[in-house]
Amino acid sequence: EETDRTERIDAALEALGDDVVILGHNYQRREIVDHADFVGDSYQLSKEAAAADAEYVIFGGVTFMAESADIITDDDQTVILPSMEASCPMAGMAEALQVDSAWAEITAAAPDANIIPITYMNSYADLKAFCASQGGLVCTSSNAHKAFEYAFETGDKVLFLPDKHLGENTAHRLGMENDIAEWDPWDPEGKDAADVAESDIILWDGYCQVHERFRVEHIDQVRDANPDAKVVVHPECRREVVEAADKAGSTATICETIANADPGDTWAIGTEIHLTNHLQRWHPEVNVLPLCGDACMDCNAMRQIDPNYLTWVLEELVAGRERNVIEVAPEEKELAEVALDRMLEI
Ligand code: 13P
Ligand code: SF4
Repeated sequence: EETDRTERIDAALEALGDDVVILGHNYQRREIVDHADFVGDSYQLSKEAAAADAEYVIFGGVTFMAESADIITDDDQTVILPSMEASCPMAGMAEALQVDSAWAEITAAAPDANIIPITYMNSYADLKAFCASQGGLVCTSSNAHKAFEYAFETGDKVLFLPDKHLGENTAHRLGMENDIAEWDPWDPEGKDAADVAESDIILWDGYCQVHERFRVEHIDQVRDANPDAKVVVHPECRREVVEAADKAGSTATICETIANADPGDTWAIGTEIHLTNHLQRWHPEVNVLPLCGDACMDCNAMRQIDPNYLTWVLEELVAGRERNVIEVAPEEKELAEVALDRMLEI
C-alpha cells in the first residue's frame, strides 16, 4: 500500500512540477518528511514559506503554521493543509477574544506600565494581529529570548502567551526568573493584579500536552540505564526538566545536536516521538533514545496529516481542484504579518 501511495505522490508531483512546494515540520510522519522539499522547525519553515515562489505551498504541519505561511506568502500563492483537523491544542488555549478581555484586566493592574504582548508562533492569526496592534510580535522557540529583548527595548513588561513553560524557560535564560507573574484566565484565583504590577514578565497559563508529560524521572531513568547519555529537550518542557537536561532548544537545535554528535555518542531526546524516530534513521552512527521509554509522546495534531491526505490534495490539484485551502481573513492578515515580520527581522 505504501509503495503504491509513494508512486501516486511522485506521479502527482511530477505532473505539478514547479507549481508545488511541500514544507514538512520535524514532527511529521516519515512519509510526509520523505516527500517534503524542506523539513525544519517552525522558524525555518516560516522562512522557507516567505522565500517560496511556487503557486501552491503544501504544509505538512498544523493549522497555525499553514496560517502563518498564508500570511507570509504572496497573494497569488495558495497554502494547502492536507487535513483540516490538524490543530495544535496549545494554540487553542489563547483565543483572541479571551485575550482581549484579559488584556483589559492586565493593563488595569499596571496602569502606568507599557506592556508588550508576545505570542508564540503556536497561536492563531487573530492573536498575532492583536499582538502587533499593541507593539508586540511573534516568536518561535528558537528566538523567544530575542523577542523578549526586543520588547524590553520599548516596553516595561511582557505578556507572553500561550506557552507558560517556554515563557519561564526564556525568563531563566535572560536571568529574570524572579520577575514572573502567572495569569490563569480559567481560574479566578489565578489572576493576581498585585503580582502583575510587580513583575516584568506575565505568563499566560497555556502548555503543550505532549511536552508537559516529560518528567525529571524520565531523565533519571535514562541516565541510570545509560551512564554516558546526554539529554536534549524542547523548551516547551517544564522548567525542572529543562534544568535537568544537558541542553534545550527548538526542533532545529535538537536536529543539529544529533548531526554534530560523534559516532557512538548517546543522546536521549525529549520531544515529539516522530522526530526522535527520524533522528534514529538519519544518524544511525549515534545512539538516539526517546527520553520517555515506552510512553508515547506523540502529537495528535501533527499526526492528522496522514499520507493518504497528502496523496488526495496533490491528485486533486492535478485534476484542477484546490482542496483544504488555508486563507486568513484579510482584516487579520495585515496586522498578523506585521507581528511575523518583526520576528523575521530580529
Ligand atoms: P519548533 O519551532 O521547535 O519546531 O516547535 C514547534 C512545535 O510545535 C513544538 O511543539
Ligand atoms: Fe502543539 Fe505540542 Fe503538537 Fe507542538 S507538539 S503542535 S505545541 S500540541
